[in-house]
Amino acid sequence: MLNVSSDYPQRGTGLTLFSELPKSVDVYEVGPRDGLQNELRALTTQAKAQLINALVVSGLKRIEVSSFVSPRWIPQLADAEGLFALIGQPAGVTFSALVPNLKGLERAKAVDLREAAVFMSVTESHSKRNINKTVAEALRTVAEVSEAALKAGMRVRCYLSTVWGCPYEGKVPVESVVALCKQLKGLGLYQLSLGDTIGVGTPKHVAQVLEALRADFRAEELALHMHDTRGTALANVLVGLSMGVTTFDSSIGGLGGCPYAPGAAGNLATEDLVYMLEGIGVDCGVSLSKLVEAGEQAQALIGRKLSGKYLQAALGERERTSPRS
Ligand code: HMG
Ligand code: MG
Repeated sequence: MLNVSSDYPQRGTGLTLFSELPKSVDVYEVGPRDGLQNELRALTTQAKAQLINALVVSGLKRIEVSSFVSPRWIPQLADAEGLFALIGQPAGVTFSALVPNLKGLERAKAVDLREAAVFMSVTESHSKRNINKTVAEALRTVAEVSEAALKAGMRVRCYLSTVWGCPYEGKVPVESVVALCKQLKGLGLYQLSLGDTIGVGTPKHVAQVLEALRADFRAEELALHMHDTRGTALANVLVGLSMGVTTFDSSIGGLGGCPYAPGAAGNLATEDLVYMLEGIGVDCGVSLSKLVEAGEQAQALIGRKLSGKYLQAALGERERTSPRS
């Protein structure tokens, strides 16, 4: 017979891990931006507004809805101004958008954007392909856009892409990530979102990066933006939680990737994240059943099955248990 105490020795975590996690976290939804930027078929502005409304109904309070980037680079999001006119500003919800340069910021100001997301990469090749700038040029742009956005009264967060690996350069040294994060300090950014752009991060590597940043950043100043390309996103989130991180980016149905990162299929699905958070007793204020409704709507609008596992399980179960006519 199994002797629990001797066959399962305590290894320092066990159930105690769960009592030490943050009690509540923010889910930062990126589907309408990070997801839709990658779809071959662009949705109508009306359809995007419908999807965003379903996300708001689910209880999500932070939603990145579009990008003020060049419409030649990302035609799927060329309707950012029209979208902002349709979605308005629901109470208690922050709609944010990517802002790549001062031209984008002027467009953002015109729609009264409250939160700007600036972005850059750790690696030169991804930076060049994504925004046509070297890392040093991108850093200067991030600094000037952040300063102007803060002056305009916006909150500013910054994405750092290719933190755990680059589609063109492979492994990324932790020291490069830390050096860049230190240069971003002092720009008035309220949060740095660390991106596993191509989904190669593993729990140990995530812990190494967070540990290396601990001396310079409080856990609340960091967010994790995980892609689930290789199935490690939730394990990485759990490591982030255990190290005090309280903001996690995710995308409805697992929509998305990065158009300038081949193989970057699939952000962590919001429903998968929320299911895990609920199960381990970490509050995020989002309704799973409403998320499934939003995911179903996203599938119908996009016209294909999405990769989110909880979504597919919930829809499959509903189909199996609903009475046949
Ligand atoms: P560029 O071509 O080098 O820019 O693009 P430029 O300054 O030479 O301008 C070229 C033309 O674009 C000009 O027009 C500008 O006016 C226009 P023209 O005179 O030729 O008619 N232009 C703009 N138009 C509208 N809005 C603007 C804007 N800027 C210039 N803001 C640029 C440089 C940065 C604009 C371009 O490379 C770009 O828009 N890149 C965006 C790429 C992108 O959105 N990638 C995906 C997001 S990143 C991501 O997904 C990763 C993330 O999720 C985290 C992770 O997973 O790691 C965030
Ligand atoms: Mg992304």
